[in-house]
Amino acid sequence: MIYLDNAATSWPKPESVYRTMDDFLRTKGGNPGRGSNSMALAAGETVEETRRLVARLINASETNRVIFTLNCTDALNLGLKGLLKPGDHVITDSIRHNSLVRPLKKLEVHGVKITALSPSPDTGVVSARDIEAAITRVTKLIVVTHASNVNGVIQPINEYGIVARRHHLFFMVDAAQTLGKHPVDVAAGNIDLLAFSGHKGLFGPPGTGVLFIGNRVNLDSVREGGTGSFSEREEQPDILPDKYESGTLNSVGISGLGAGLKYIFDESLDKIVAHEKFLTDKLIAGLSHIPGVNLYLPEDLSRMVPVVSFNIKGYQPGEVGTILDQSFDIKVRAGLQCAPAAHKTFGTFPGGTVRISPGYLNLAEEIDLTVKAVERIAGSRKLG
Ligand SMILES: Cc1ncc(COP(=O)(O)O)c(C=O)c1O
Repeated sequence: MIYLDNAATSWPKPESVYRTMDDFLRTKGGNPGRGSNSMALAAGETVEETRRLVARLINASETNRVIFTLNCTDALNLGLKGLLKPGDHVITDSIRHNSLVRPLKKLEVHGVKITALSPSPDTGVVSARDIEAAITRVTKLIVVTHASNVNGVIQPINEYGIVARRHHLFFMVDAAQTLGKHPVDVAAGNIDLLAFSGHKGLFGPPGTGVLFIGNRVNLDSVREGGTGSFSEREEQPDILPDKYESGTLNSVGISGLGAGLKYIFDESLDKIVAHEKFLTDKLIAGLSHIPGVNLYLPEDLSRMVPVVSFNIKGYQPGEVGTILDQSFDIKVRAGLQCAPAAHKTFGTFPGGTVRISPGYLNLAEEIDLTVKAVERIAGSRKLG
């Protein structure tokens, strides 16, 4: 079996992730932050260790501003719904995932105004100048996709952060596709809200995500309940991270996320990026020589995460995905990848594309076998 759907969720996980989660559930599985028995304390220490590792990765100076969520979607919902009020204006991009499209749509119904900017068809990049020109008197937030999950183009978020700061706006980034695949620095990038998955590039299990909340932002909570702190009060505590972490955390998942982060620090992000780039370049080189294959690539291949979209002439993307799975045991993602807005922008709506997303644990031979499989599929339709 060849797994090449790492943009959806990474697989396999490093061995240490499996081992840590197994050990956590067997030996430390108390309820973190709930009481002072030794199991609860051990679980709490594991959660706090992961929080410190996340803060280190994104250069957040205050660890308690790292909030654990269910996934990136949950983090985006908390950030957007905790911040925006009717009458506010938001600037966003047209390549965003439904995780950003849908909460914004809901807020729009309740009176939030939205401007969505398209990237240049040549570079694939949304210009900071266009963002600045779209600012109005009531603009409150700039929220962008760091890298598209359809074509992998990395957007110049540091430039957007400068614009946001210059105009006293909040700046939020959906970094689902970049964490663990590209450096992200919330301090250098003037980022107020950073949402990301734990289960993609960070090697954590499904059910893990993070919202970093910068110190200029005071979000409303969107979920209230037990936090283990200030239990005598009816109101939600105002301290962080408790304000946004009601209910029992996914502590076993967070322990696995911590192991994933340690693995990244041990290997080094540079080495991970270099191997993934090697695999991506190899994939692009192989696919681009196959007659009938149309690749959707950015102009600058050095500014993309390992996400490659293509179509084969004469095939629906879903057909290609099914043949790769059933005849070749190769797992990819076909269709709209939950990003219809991005496909409309790239001209691949409503069919979508076939998406191959290599990860650090893929081998060069797996890319060779995948290219050969695509060649066979493209060739057989021509013959047929
Ligand atoms: C750009 C982008 N944003 C958000 C998400 C949602 O992530 P999650 O599945 O962790 O909610 C994804 C997932 O594919 C994504 O690619």
